Amino acid sequence: MKFVQLFDRPQIEARAQELGREISSHYGDEPLVCVCVLKGAYAFFTDLMRNLTIHPTMDFVRLSSYADQTSRKSKMVFSKDMEIDIRDKHVLVVEDIVDTGHSMGFLIKVLEARSPKSIKIAAMIDKRERREVDVNVDFVGFPLDKGYIVGYGLDYAEQYRELDGIYDLKFSEA
Ligand code: IMP
Ligand code: MG
Repeated sequence: MKFVQLFDRPQIEARAQELGREISSHYGDEPLVCVCVLKGAYAFFTDLMRNLTIHPTMDFVRLSSYADQTSRKSKMVFSKDMEIDIRDKHVLVVEDIVDTGHSMGFLIKVLEARSPKSIKIAAMIDKRERREVDVNVDFVGFPLDKGYIVGYGLDYAEQYRELDGIYDLKFSEA
C-alpha cells in the first residue's frame, strides 16, 4: 500500500479557519447545535469548532449499517443517537466525508422529523464520484473526484485515523 498526501496539516488548518468564519457569520446569534458524526469526523469537528466565533452546543452521533435480509439493501441505524433536543434550533451536521450519500441521507431524514429550524451539512471531503443519494453539502472542506482516503480521522479498517494529513491510499503499486 502507498500513501499519497493530498492535503497537509497547514492546508487543513487554513481551510478549517475559513469554514469556521463562514459558518459563524452564517448562523450569527441564532441557537445552533453542531453534531459530530463519529468516529471519522472527530478531528475535523475539533478543528472546525475551535475556529468558530459563535458558541454552539455540541452533540455526537454514531451510525452503523447492517444488511437487511428481506430487501437485500443495507439499513442504517444509530449506534449512538443525539442527546440534545433540536426542536426549533439550527443543526449543523459535521461529517468526515460524503461518498454515496446514504449515511447523510439517513441522518438528515431522521433529524428532520424532530422539527429543527434548519439542517445543514459540513463535510471535510465531498467525494462526488459514487453519489447515489442526492445530498447537498453546504460547507465543503475539499471536493474530491475519487479515491480512498485516510488520515485526519479517516480510517481504513480502523487504522490511520491519527495521521495529521489527508492521504490517498493506493492499494496497488501499478
Ligand atoms: P456514504 O457512502 O456517503 O454513506 O459514506 C459512509 C461513510 O463511509 C463515511 O462517513 C466514511 O466514514 C466512510 N468513507 C467513505 N469514503 C471513504 C474514504 O475514502 N475513506 C475513509 N472512509 C470513507
Ligand atoms: Mg463517517
